[in-house]
This record gives sequence, C-alpha cells and structure tokens, in this order.
Amino acid sequence: MKPTRNEAYELLCRYNDSPALITHALAVEGVMRHFARLLGEDEQKWGSIGLMHDIDYQMFPDQHCIKAREILMEHGVDDEYIHAIMSHGYDICCDVEPEHVMEKVLFTVDELTGLINACAIMRPSRSVLDLELKSVKKKYKDRRFAAGVNREVIEKGASMLNMDLDYVIAETISGMREVAEAIGLKGEL
Ligand SMILES: [Fe+2]
Ligand SMILES: [Fe+2]
Repeated sequence: MKPTRNEAYELLCRYNDSPALITHALAVEGVMRHFARLLGEDEQKWGSIGLMHDIDYQMFPDQHCIKAREILMEHGVDDEYIHAIMSHGYDICCDVEPEHVMEKVLFTVDELTGLINACAIMRPSRSVLDLELKSVKKKYKDRRFAAGVNREVIEKGASMLNMDLDYVIAETISGMREVAEAIGLKGEL
C-alpha cells in the first residue's frame, strides 16, 4: 500500500512517542513536500516517506533502517517507499544506495534539518521564520556547533543531487518555515 498522510502519521506514532523524534519527522516531511513541489514531483508520496523515515529509530536504534524494512513490510507498504526510507541510511547503517531524486533529497535534508533546528532554537526569537541562510552557513562552518550533525553526509547528498549547497540549505529553511508551527519553530513572531 501507498500510505496516505494520515496513515503514515499513524504508523509513525504507533512506533514512536518521543516528541523529539515526531518533531524531526514533521520537519523532514515539510522539507520533502517543499522539494517535491519545487521539482514537480508527488508531494504526498515524498511527505509520507519523510514522515516515516525514522519509524524504527526509537525502538531499534542499533538496527536502524533494517528494522524499518521489516516494520513497513509487515504493514504492506510498497517497496518503493521501503527502498526510499532505507536509503537515507546509506553507508551509515545500511547499503541501500539513494537512486531516485526523492531518495537523494531525503538523504541530504535528514541531517540538515537537525542543523537548522539547532540554529533556530538558539535565536532570541526561537524561530525559523527570521532565520537567514547566512547565519546557518556560519554555524555550518563551525564544526563545534551541533557537532553531531554530519556535514559530510549533507555535502555528499548535495553532490548526488548536483545541487549547490547554498541552494539546498536555503530551500530546506523554506520547507521548515512552511511547517514552523508544527515543529515548534514559529517563535513569537
Ligand atoms: Fe535515520
Ligand atoms: Fe532522520
């Protein structure tokens, strides 16, 4: 089956109750929808894949992506979705390579949303709405800032996409702005 937005969200919540993981899933969903729209692709499909990409992470952090395959197969989710979800862990926790542009976007923005989130929450406004590309770039270059965010993965993803890193960062900020309220980054603006 190809899960609708609600079905994808329900599945996510069946395996996750961590607010941080759900917020991360909503951020990645928003950014995936944004890129799908930019590229004239299927917003609903890209969004559902974004929502479910870390479905196994809370319960099986040591078997990330491998357990996701089992869980999604159990629920009869289409192979295309499973392949896309597994491929975000390419060379990190599995050997499924991103092939489709959707998979390359997911691979790239997964870590990047984490960095942008870290940039937004340290602002006085605690908002992504007034966060500019140049301040994200400054933090991006400071490897001690959000040190857990793997910049190499982001760069590898951008080069798979043949997209300029600045463009990817700017559009990821835009995608997160669209879901600012849902991800708690609307601030007081
Ligand atoms: Fe993941
Ligand atoms: Fe993730």
